[in-house]
Amino acid sequence: MDGLIQNPANTPPPRGPRLLITPLKHQHLDQVMEIERACFSRPWERRIFEAEVVFPHALCLAALTVPQGLLVGYLIMWLVVDEAQIQNIAVHPGCRGQGVGKALLRQGLEEARRRGGTWASLEVRPSNLAARRLYASLGFAEMGRRPGYYQPEGEDALLLNAELAWLDGPGGEIP
Ligand SMILES: CC(C)(COP(=O)(O)OP(=O)(O)OC[C@H]1O[C@@H](n2cnc3c(N)ncnc32)[C@H](O)[C@@H]1OP(=O)(O)O)[C@@H](O)C(=O)NCCC(=O)NCCS
Repeated sequence: MDGLIQNPANTPPPRGPRLLITPLKHQHLDQVMEIERACFSRPWERRIFEAEVVFPHALCLAALTVPQGLLVGYLIMWLVVDEAQIQNIAVHPGCRGQGVGKALLRQGLEEARRRGGTWASLEVRPSNLAARRLYASLGFAEMGRRPGYYQPEGEDALLLNAELAWLDGPGGEIP
């Protein structure tokens, strides 16, 4: 994950939206691209998302508001043998701090565990405190650092891992 744009207006409303976490589909990609461009200085291109939503080893989730069906966040994860690799997660700047990111990541990790995953990994900028807090809240711990990983500015990447065995919460199977 790369190229974070800080959100200066990250003030959460008092109540969060009712959410449906569901598989991310091609039909969601216009909304995905709006959020992606709002979140990252070097956003993924649309063709990458188009490939991810049909890639057999990818687990792609959307967070939709109920009943409006507006996409407010998404998660892209790869399942490689027993490892869940978090490739991308983003929440609409106007919907942050309301549990959307945590709901997406938790359901993604639970689904990865159901499919045989035992641990999860990701990279994050040390300066991305919101993301680091999210990951810490789901058991991720720092396992290493890649110096100068994020270019051109040369910020390091923190490597975080989490065991999935502790996840035993409820939640329906994601088709
Ligand atoms: C990181 C991101 C996905 C978090 O999504 P979110 O919906 O705002 O997060 P949540 O509301 O679910 O919060 C999850 C946890 O992180 C904490 N958190 C969220 N935003 C925070 C902030 N700005 N500062 C401090 N903590 C924050 C919450 O308090 C919560 O912790 P808790 O469960 O211990 O209370 C969102 O900020 C985002 O889209 N950022 C831009 C894209 C990005 O950086 N992606 C990750 C790249 S590695």
